[in-house]
Amino acid sequence: MKPLRIALTKGRLEKSTVALFEKLGYNCDEIHNKGRRLILNIGDGDFEVVLAKAADVITYVEHGVCDLGVVGKDTILENGTSFYELLDLGFGRCKFALACKKGHNFYHGYDAKTIATKYPNVTRKFFENKNMDVRVIKIEGSVELAPLVGLADGIVDIVETGSTLKANNLEVIEDVTTISARLIANTASLKLRKNEIEDLVRKMEAEVK
Ligand code: PRP
Repeated sequence: MKPLRIALTKGRLEKSTVALFEKLGYNCDEIHNKGRRLILNIGDGDFEVVLAKAADVITYVEHGVCDLGVVGKDTILENGTSFYELLDLGFGRCKFALACKKGHNFYHGYDAKTIATKYPNVTRKFFENKNMDVRVIKIEGSVELAPLVGLADGIVDIVETGSTLKANNLEVIEDVTTISARLIANTASLKLRKNEIEDLVRKMEAEVK
């Protein structure tokens, strides 16, 4: 049978996922020496790994061209859930937070606030739960800039160490939710390749506890 195919988020989560597979005893040399290649084998042909951007990991898994995926809860919350979330992998821990310029009284006044974010769905839901009308502006990166240049009253963004906020004289007003990396599965793969997937989940579970 062909190996299980896993979509893996490139970058920060990639390193921790590779470390996890190595702890489970799978050889990851191909990934360490990948150069510009995007499809790689790990173990003794046990798994085929596809390296992709976070939102694309979900697309590949939803369409069934990858059986499994490793992706942050941030991307899951923003991009929908037509797949199974199997396991909290414990790494990639950070949080979504609402932040604004230090000393700025964000909730003052009755005008609808403007929020800049890379995560408009998460942001809308957060303010809907507060029954607060906001204008959401989608930004592609370095969201911290928006309140500094006067585009937004606040931002909803990922905070890990807090150093980006601090360096730009911004502060957290409220935490939105905590985030970590998740193992996800295509719904059909979970039925068709149940034993192999459950075997991997059991091994991972034992390691990340
Ligand atoms: C993320 C996030 C913050 C920063 C938070 O950005 O959007 O800017 O990391 O980390 P910290 O709390 O440890 O400072 P990323 O590095 O992914 O870049 P981007 O915003 O340009 O996408």
